[in-house]
Amino acid sequence: MSPEYLLRSLLMLILALFSANASNWLYLAKLSSSGSISEEEACERLRGLAQRQVQICKRNLEVMEAVRGGARLAIHECQHQFRNRRWNCSTLETQHILGRVVTQGTREAAFVYAISSASVAFEVTRACSSGDLQKCGCDRNVHGPGPDGFQWSGCSDNIAYGVAFSASFVDVRERGKGSSSSRALMNLHNNEAGRKAILNNMRVECKCHGVSGSCEVKTCWKAMPQFRKVGNILKEKFDGATEVEQRKVGTSRVLMPRNPQFKPHTDEDLVYLDPSPDFCDRDARSGVLGTAGRLCNRTSKAIDGCELMCCGRGFRTEQVEVVDRCSCRFHWCCYVRCKQCRRTAETHACR
Ligand SMILES: *[C@@H]1O[C@H](CO)[C@@H](O)[C@H](O)[C@H]1NC(C)=O
Ligand SMILES: *[C@@H]1O[C@H](CO)[C@@H](O)[C@H](O)[C@H]1NC(C)=O
Repeated sequence: MSPEYLLRSLLMLILALFSANASNWLYLAKLSSSGSISEEEACERLRGLAQRQVQICKRNLEVMEAVRGGARLAIHECQHQFRNRRWNCSTLETQHILGRVVTQGTREAAFVYAISSASVAFEVTRACSSGDLQKCGCDRNVHGPGPDGFQWSGCSDNIAYGVAFSASFVDVRERGKGSSSSRALMNLHNNEAGRKAILNNMRVECKCHGVSGSCEVKTCWKAMPQFRKVGNILKEKFDGATEVEQRKVGTSRVLMPRNPQFKPHTDEDLVYLDPSPDFCDRDARSGVLGTAGRLCNRTSKAIDGCELMCCGRGFRTEQVEVVDRCSCRFHWCCYVRCKQCRRTAETHACR
């Protein structure tokens, strides 16, 4: 073996160890849309995937576009749900795409794991229903007469496929070595809670058939909830998340509420191990941006209010000019014409 070869192998090993630690598949959200994942080599080049996720990628090339869509959806929904909070789910340009906060056992990490495993299940299921994939389609098990005299028919969302794919792709990072660590147990629990938020909120959609809208024959199918609803549910779970610690029960290790007086969490609840920082000040090492410059509401007493958002540092008020549509008039027929009105408004931003 040449020394050059040895050196190269060593370098590769160090790189592999480093990236396994730092990687986060949510980084796929940053992949430019021109970089399609259409051949196996592309899987190796994707930043953020763990080694076993690369293997799954190679075996499921056609699903990877949905996984990438899932990464985008997760971040988009996270930013919506947290837009009025000190930690607002903003992304960084590093492979720690959401900062180190989500690599610790915090409540925020619990939410990110749950929303992202849900979003992969959601996007893969949607791809199945749209007929884009060879490996899956609509759920054909839902057919025949339904309970209220309707017929199951049409394309029912194949949530079982999406959930199973999410469980294998997202959970694989926690399986194997160290899979009984508290963090692995926490992540697996929250991943599952995310998928439950879809599974337990499936809707039935129906359509009537018959002469001029009469409902002689009704056909129905099962559909996933809107993803916004999934986000709302998980945000509520975030607010009520349970602080847990690992205990040994018999031979297995489980997470139990740290405070024994709290009622045990269910598999739909979010759990966390570590307290969160206050997110007030910039901390580049952890990827915390701090709240300086954040807009706040002067009259609100909640977390979006200037008092809490600015952590007592105070705020600056600026006059801004806002252009509204006003004195709108309906003209026969059929358009609306408005004037533009200018007014000044105040915005408040944290010091
Ligand atoms: C989140 O807050 C940071 C400052 O703390 C700000 O720069 C960023 O624009 C915000 N991101 C979103 C998505 O609101
Ligand atoms: C600010 O907070 C108050 C009280 O919670 C609320 O009524 C108002 O709509 C908020 N203003 C804005 C601009 O969000």
